Amino acid sequence: MKALVTGAAGFVGSNISRRLISEGMDVVGIDAITDYYDPEIKLRNLQAIGNRGFTFIHEDLNHAALGKLLDGVDYIFHQAGQPGVRKSWGKDFSTYLDANVHATQRLLEHCKDSSTLKRFVYASSSSVYGDAATFPTSEDQLPQPLSPYGVSKLAAEHLCSLYAANFGVPTVSLRYFTVYGPGQRPDMAFTRFVKAIIQGTPIEIYGSGNQIRDFTYVDDIVEANLRAALRPSPKGSIFNVAGGSNISVNEAIVTLERLMGHELKRNYVGRVAGDVVRTGGDTTKIKATLDWSPHVSLEEGLQRHLAWGKGLFAKD
Ligand code: UGA
Repeated sequence: MKALVTGAAGFVGSNISRRLISEGMDVVGIDAITDYYDPEIKLRNLQAIGNRGFTFIHEDLNHAALGKLLDGVDYIFHQAGQPGVRKSWGKDFSTYLDANVHATQRLLEHCKDSSTLKRFVYASSSSVYGDAATFPTSEDQLPQPLSPYGVSKLAAEHLCSLYAANFGVPTVSLRYFTVYGPGQRPDMAFTRFVKAIIQGTPIEIYGSGNQIRDFTYVDDIVEANLRAALRPSPKGSIFNVAGGSNISVNEAIVTLERLMGHELKRNYVGRVAGDVVRTGGDTTKIKATLDWSPHVSLEEGLQRHLAWGKGLFAKD
Protein backbone atom coordinates (compact mmCIF):
# COMPACT_ATOMS: atom_id res chain seq x y z
CA MET A 1 0.00 0.00 0.00
CA LYS A 2 1.23 3.47 -0.81
CA ALA A 3 0.41 6.67 1.07
CA LEU A 4 1.02 10.31 0.21
CA VAL A 5 1.50 12.57 3.24
CA THR A 6 1.38 16.28 2.48
CA GLY A 7 3.10 18.48 5.03
CA ALA A 8 5.26 15.47 5.91
CA ALA A 9 7.95 17.61 7.55
CA GLY A 10 5.49 19.23 9.95
CA PHE A 11 4.48 18.24 13.47
CA VAL A 12 1.48 16.04 12.64
CA GLY A 13 2.61 15.01 9.13
CA SER A 14 5.94 13.63 10.34
CA ASN A 15 4.24 11.63 13.10
CA ILE A 16 1.73 10.17 10.63
CA SER A 17 4.55 9.27 8.22
CA ARG A 18 6.50 7.42 10.91
CA ARG A 19 3.45 5.47 11.98
CA LEU A 20 2.50 4.50 8.41
CA ILE A 21 6.01 3.23 7.74
CA SER A 22 5.90 1.19 10.94
CA GLU A 23 2.63 -0.32 9.65
CA GLY A 24 4.44 -1.41 6.47
CA MET A 25 3.21 1.25 4.03
CA ASP A 26 5.36 2.93 1.41
CA VAL A 27 5.17 6.64 2.13
CA VAL A 28 5.79 9.57 -0.17
CA GLY A 29 6.05 12.82 1.75
CA ILE A 30 5.82 16.28 0.26
CA ASP A 31 6.52 19.55 2.03
CA ALA A 32 7.30 23.10 0.91
CA ILE A 33 9.42 23.69 4.08
CA THR A 34 8.29 27.30 4.41
CA ASP A 35 9.94 29.64 6.90
CA TYR A 36 6.83 30.23 9.06
CA TYR A 37 9.02 28.70 11.78
CA ASP A 38 12.65 27.55 11.76
CA PRO A 39 13.04 25.15 8.79
CA GLU A 40 15.73 23.31 10.80
CA ILE A 41 12.91 21.89 12.93
CA LYS A 42 11.29 20.41 9.82
CA LEU A 43 14.59 18.95 8.65
CA ARG A 44 14.93 17.30 12.06
CA ASN A 45 11.40 15.90 11.71
CA LEU A 46 12.35 14.43 8.33
CA GLN A 47 15.51 12.90 9.78
CA ALA A 48 13.42 11.22 12.46
CA ILE A 49 11.30 9.59 9.74
CA GLY A 50 14.44 8.17 8.07
CA ASN A 51 14.78 6.74 4.57
CA ARG A 52 13.39 3.25 4.92
CA GLY A 53 10.03 3.15 3.14
CA PHE A 54 10.02 6.93 2.79
CA THR A 55 10.56 9.15 -0.25
CA PHE A 56 10.62 12.89 0.29
CA ILE A 57 9.75 15.58 -2.23
CA HIS A 58 10.61 19.18 -1.37
CA GLU A 59 7.93 21.06 -3.25
CA ASP A 60 4.89 23.32 -2.93
CA LEU A 61 1.55 21.61 -3.64
CA ASN A 62 0.55 24.58 -5.79
CA HIS A 63 3.41 23.83 -8.22
CA ALA A 64 4.16 20.11 -7.90
CA ALA A 65 3.40 17.69 -10.74
CA LEU A 66 0.47 16.11 -8.91
CA GLY A 67 -0.51 13.60 -11.61
CA LYS A 68 2.85 11.90 -11.24
CA LEU A 69 2.80 12.26 -7.46
CA LEU A 70 -0.58 10.52 -7.16
CA ASP A 71 0.43 7.60 -9.36
CA GLY A 72 -0.45 4.36 -7.51
CA VAL A 73 -1.33 6.18 -4.27
CA ASP A 74 -3.92 4.38 -2.10
CA TYR A 75 -4.23 6.89 0.75
CA ILE A 76 -3.67 10.62 1.05
CA PHE A 77 -3.14 12.29 4.42
CA HIS A 78 -3.43 15.98 3.59
CA GLN A 79 -1.70 17.74 6.48
CA ALA A 80 -0.01 20.54 4.54
CA GLY A 81 -1.22 24.04 5.20
CA GLN A 82 -0.43 27.41 6.67
CA PRO A 83 -1.12 27.09 10.41
CA GLY A 84 -1.52 29.75 13.07
CA VAL A 85 -4.82 31.28 14.16
CA ARG A 86 -3.45 34.60 15.39
CA LYS A 87 -1.22 35.43 12.41
CA SER A 88 -3.90 35.04 9.77
CA TRP A 89 -5.09 38.66 9.66
CA GLY A 90 -3.91 41.35 7.24
CA LYS A 91 -1.77 40.80 4.17
CA ASP A 92 -0.74 37.32 5.34
CA PHE A 93 -4.22 36.05 4.46
CA SER A 94 -3.17 35.40 0.85
CA THR A 95 -0.64 32.87 2.18
CA TYR A 96 -3.48 31.11 4.02
CA LEU A 97 -5.62 31.09 0.89
CA ASP A 98 -2.81 29.67 -1.25
CA ALA A 99 -1.65 27.03 1.21
CA ASN A 100 -4.99 25.98 2.66
CA VAL A 101 -7.58 26.57 -0.05
CA HIS A 102 -5.88 26.61 -3.48
CA ALA A 103 -3.52 23.73 -2.70
CA THR A 104 -6.39 21.58 -1.40
CA GLN A 105 -8.55 22.31 -4.44
CA ARG A 106 -5.63 21.48 -6.76
CA LEU A 107 -5.03 18.19 -4.96
CA LEU A 108 -8.73 17.27 -5.05
CA GLU A 109 -8.92 18.00 -8.80
CA HIS A 110 -6.20 15.45 -9.42
CA CYS A 111 -7.90 12.92 -7.14
CA LYS A 112 -10.93 12.87 -9.49
CA ASP A 113 -8.83 10.94 -12.00
CA SER A 114 -7.26 8.44 -9.61
CA SER A 115 -8.16 4.79 -10.04
CA THR A 116 -6.23 3.67 -6.94
CA LEU A 117 -7.23 6.20 -4.26
CA LYS A 118 -9.13 4.61 -1.38
CA ARG A 119 -9.24 7.54 1.06
CA PHE A 120 -8.32 11.20 1.25
CA VAL A 121 -7.99 12.29 4.89
CA TYR A 122 -8.04 16.05 5.36
CA ALA A 123 -6.60 17.76 8.44
CA SER A 124 -9.35 20.21 9.38
CA SER A 125 -9.47 22.20 12.58
CA SER A 126 -11.62 22.99 15.61
CA SER A 127 -11.16 26.62 14.58
CA VAL A 128 -13.97 26.14 12.04
CA TYR A 129 -16.44 26.39 14.97
CA GLY A 130 -15.37 29.81 16.24
CA ASP A 131 -17.09 30.59 19.53
CA ALA A 132 -19.49 27.66 19.44
CA ALA A 133 -23.00 27.93 20.88
CA THR A 134 -22.95 24.61 22.77
CA PHE A 135 -20.40 22.29 24.43
CA PRO A 136 -19.30 19.68 23.72
CA THR A 137 -19.69 20.85 20.13
CA SER A 138 -20.92 18.27 17.64
CA GLU A 139 -20.11 18.18 13.94
CA ASP A 140 -23.61 19.25 12.88
CA GLN A 141 -23.36 22.60 14.65
CA LEU A 142 -23.13 25.49 12.17
CA PRO A 143 -19.43 26.38 11.78
CA GLN A 144 -18.78 30.08 12.33
CA PRO A 145 -15.01 30.68 12.30
CA LEU A 146 -13.63 33.60 14.30
CA SER A 147 -10.31 33.89 12.43
CA PRO A 148 -9.29 34.11 8.77
CA TYR A 149 -7.33 30.89 9.43
CA GLY A 150 -10.57 29.18 10.47
CA VAL A 151 -12.27 30.51 7.33
CA SER A 152 -9.54 28.99 5.15
CA LYS A 153 -9.70 25.61 6.93
CA LEU A 154 -13.52 25.57 6.61
CA ALA A 155 -13.34 26.50 2.90
CA ALA A 156 -11.00 23.56 2.26
CA GLU A 157 -13.23 21.26 4.30
CA HIS A 158 -16.21 22.29 2.16
CA LEU A 159 -14.12 21.58 -0.95
CA CYS A 160 -13.49 18.06 0.35
CA SER A 161 -17.23 17.52 0.83
CA LEU A 162 -17.97 18.97 -2.64
CA TYR A 163 -15.49 16.71 -4.40
CA ALA A 164 -16.93 13.75 -2.50
CA ALA A 165 -20.52 14.61 -3.45
CA ASN A 166 -19.86 15.52 -7.09
CA PHE A 167 -16.99 13.28 -8.13
CA GLY A 168 -16.93 10.51 -5.55
CA VAL A 169 -13.54 11.47 -4.12
CA PRO A 170 -13.40 9.43 -0.87
CA THR A 171 -12.71 12.30 1.54
CA VAL A 172 -12.87 12.32 5.33
CA SER A 173 -12.25 15.55 7.26
CA LEU A 174 -10.87 15.38 10.78
CA ARG A 175 -11.35 18.46 12.93
CA TYR A 176 -8.27 18.47 15.17
CA PHE A 177 -8.55 20.19 18.55
CA THR A 178 -5.25 21.91 19.57
CA VAL A 179 -2.68 19.15 19.02
CA TYR A 180 0.25 18.88 21.42
CA GLY A 181 3.01 16.50 22.43
CA PRO A 182 6.72 16.10 21.60
CA GLY A 183 7.55 17.98 18.42
CA GLN A 184 4.68 20.49 18.71
CA ARG A 185 5.23 23.63 16.61
CA PRO A 186 7.32 26.31 18.33
CA ASP A 187 4.62 29.00 17.97
CA MET A 188 2.06 26.99 19.94
CA ALA A 189 1.29 27.43 23.63
CA PHE A 190 2.73 24.29 25.24
CA THR A 191 6.04 24.33 23.41
CA ARG A 192 6.46 28.01 24.31
CA PHE A 193 5.55 27.35 27.95
CA VAL A 194 7.78 24.27 28.22
CA LYS A 195 10.74 26.17 26.74
CA ALA A 196 10.17 29.05 29.16
CA ILE A 197 9.85 26.85 32.24
CA ILE A 198 13.10 25.04 31.35
CA GLN A 199 15.02 28.20 30.52
CA GLY A 200 13.55 30.31 33.33
CA THR A 201 12.15 32.99 31.04
CA PRO A 202 8.70 34.61 31.33
CA ILE A 203 5.71 33.50 29.28
CA GLU A 204 3.09 35.63 27.61
CA ILE A 205 -0.53 34.73 28.26
CA TYR A 206 -2.98 36.14 25.76
CA GLY A 207 -6.06 37.61 27.40
CA SER A 208 -7.12 36.36 30.85
CA GLY A 209 -5.78 32.82 30.40
CA ASN A 210 -9.27 31.57 31.22
CA GLN A 211 -9.80 30.43 27.62
CA ILE A 212 -10.48 26.70 27.50
CA ARG A 213 -8.98 24.23 25.03
CA ASP A 214 -9.73 20.59 24.31
CA PHE A 215 -6.03 19.69 23.95
CA THR A 216 -5.39 16.50 21.97
CA TYR A 217 -2.25 14.39 22.17
CA VAL A 218 -0.49 13.83 18.85
CA ASP A 219 -0.53 9.99 19.00
CA ASP A 220 -4.31 10.09 19.35
CA ILE A 221 -4.47 12.34 16.26
CA VAL A 222 -2.29 9.86 14.32
CA GLU A 223 -4.52 6.96 15.37
CA ALA A 224 -7.62 8.88 14.20
CA ASN A 225 -5.97 9.40 10.81
CA LEU A 226 -5.28 5.69 10.40
CA ARG A 227 -8.80 4.76 11.38
CA ALA A 228 -10.26 7.38 9.04
CA ALA A 229 -8.21 5.88 6.20
CA LEU A 230 -8.77 2.20 6.90
CA ARG A 231 -12.26 1.95 8.37
CA PRO A 232 -15.48 2.52 6.45
CA SER A 233 -17.34 5.82 6.62
CA PRO A 234 -19.44 7.66 4.04
CA LYS A 235 -17.50 9.77 1.53
CA GLY A 236 -17.39 13.39 2.68
CA SER A 237 -17.61 12.47 6.40
CA ILE A 238 -16.51 14.98 9.04
CA PHE A 239 -15.33 13.99 12.54
CA ASN A 240 -14.16 15.84 15.63
CA VAL A 241 -10.86 14.55 17.03
CA ALA A 242 -10.73 15.94 20.57
CA GLY A 243 -8.66 14.86 23.56
CA GLY A 244 -11.32 15.53 26.20
CA SER A 245 -9.15 17.77 28.40
CA ASN A 246 -11.35 20.88 28.57
CA ILE A 247 -8.89 22.84 30.65
CA SER A 248 -8.08 26.54 30.72
CA VAL A 249 -4.68 27.91 29.73
CA ASN A 250 -4.16 29.02 33.36
CA GLU A 251 -4.98 25.52 34.66
CA ALA A 252 -2.65 23.90 32.12
CA ILE A 253 0.15 26.19 33.33
CA VAL A 254 -0.46 25.13 36.94
CA THR A 255 -0.19 21.47 35.85
CA LEU A 256 3.10 22.21 34.07
CA GLU A 257 4.43 24.00 37.16
CA ARG A 258 3.50 21.05 39.35
CA LEU A 259 5.21 18.58 36.98
CA MET A 260 8.31 20.73 36.87
CA GLY A 261 8.37 21.62 40.55
CA HIS A 262 8.70 25.37 40.11
CA GLU A 263 6.70 28.35 38.96
CA LEU A 264 6.56 30.17 35.66
CA LYS A 265 6.88 33.93 35.38
CA ARG A 266 3.67 35.06 33.75
CA ASN A 267 3.02 38.21 31.74
CA TYR A 268 -0.61 38.75 30.91
CA VAL A 269 -0.80 40.56 27.58
CA GLY A 270 -3.86 41.52 25.55
CA ARG A 271 -6.23 39.07 23.93
CA VAL A 272 -5.38 38.39 20.30
CA ALA A 273 -8.11 38.71 17.68
CA GLY A 274 -9.31 35.33 16.46
CA ASP A 275 -8.54 33.50 19.72
CA VAL A 276 -11.74 31.68 20.73
CA VAL A 277 -12.97 31.60 24.33
CA ARG A 278 -13.50 27.86 24.41
CA THR A 279 -13.17 24.71 22.35
CA GLY A 280 -14.64 21.35 23.30
CA GLY A 281 -15.38 18.59 20.85
CA ASP A 282 -18.13 16.00 21.05
CA THR A 283 -16.50 12.71 20.00
CA THR A 284 -19.66 10.57 19.93
CA LYS A 285 -19.61 10.35 16.12
CA ILE A 286 -15.98 9.26 15.72
CA LYS A 287 -16.41 6.74 18.55
CA ALA A 288 -19.50 5.25 16.90
CA THR A 289 -18.12 5.19 13.34
CA LEU A 290 -14.37 4.62 13.69
CA ASP A 291 -14.28 3.30 17.28
CA TRP A 292 -11.82 6.08 18.15
CA SER A 293 -11.46 7.67 21.54
CA PRO A 294 -8.51 9.52 23.07
CA HIS A 295 -6.05 7.45 25.11
CA VAL A 296 -3.51 9.94 26.42
CA SER A 297 -4.59 12.12 29.34
CA LEU A 298 -3.42 15.73 29.54
CA GLU A 299 -1.25 14.94 32.56
CA GLU A 300 0.51 12.06 30.75
CA GLY A 301 0.80 14.02 27.51
CA LEU A 302 2.24 17.07 29.27
CA GLN A 303 4.81 14.86 31.02
CA ARG A 304 5.96 13.57 27.63
CA HIS A 305 5.94 17.07 26.16
CA LEU A 306 8.05 18.27 29.06
CA ALA A 307 10.52 15.36 28.78
CA TRP A 308 10.99 16.14 25.09
CA GLY A 309 11.46 19.83 25.86
CA LYS A 310 14.11 19.08 28.50
CA GLY A 311 16.18 17.25 25.88
CA LEU A 312 15.79 20.06 23.38
CA PHE A 313 15.78 23.34 25.30
CA ALA A 314 18.14 22.63 28.20
CA LYS A 315 21.16 22.89 25.88
CA ASP A 316 19.99 26.03 24.02
C1 UGA B 1 -4.13 25.52 17.53
C2 UGA B 1 -3.30 25.51 16.23
O1 UGA B 1 -2.34 26.54 16.21
C3 UGA B 1 -4.14 25.62 15.00
O2 UGA B 1 -3.34 25.35 13.85
C4 UGA B 1 -5.27 24.64 15.11
O3 UGA B 1 -6.02 24.59 13.99
C5 UGA B 1 -6.06 25.00 16.33
O4 UGA B 1 -5.23 24.71 17.45
C6 UGA B 1 -7.33 24.27 16.47
O5 UGA B 1 -7.38 23.28 17.16
O6 UGA B 1 -8.30 24.70 15.86
P1 UGA B 1 -4.65 27.28 19.38
O7 UGA B 1 -5.80 26.65 20.07
O8 UGA B 1 -4.60 28.75 19.36
O9 UGA B 1 -4.53 26.83 17.86
O10 UGA B 1 -3.35 26.60 20.04
P2 UGA B 1 -2.16 27.15 20.92
O11 UGA B 1 -1.24 28.00 20.11
O12 UGA B 1 -1.56 25.98 21.59
O13 UGA B 1 -2.86 28.13 21.98
C7 UGA B 1 -3.69 27.65 23.01
C8 UGA B 1 -4.14 28.81 23.84
O14 UGA B 1 -3.00 29.35 24.51
C9 UGA B 1 -4.74 29.94 23.03
O15 UGA B 1 -5.87 30.46 23.70
C10 UGA B 1 -3.66 31.00 22.99
O16 UGA B 1 -4.10 32.31 22.97
C11 UGA B 1 -2.91 30.74 24.28
N1 UGA B 1 -1.47 31.12 24.17
C12 UGA B 1 -0.70 30.64 23.17
C13 UGA B 1 -0.94 31.96 25.11
O17 UGA B 1 -1.63 32.43 26.03
N2 UGA B 1 0.39 32.30 25.04
C14 UGA B 1 1.19 31.82 24.05
O18 UGA B 1 2.40 32.15 24.02
C15 UGA B 1 0.64 30.95 23.09
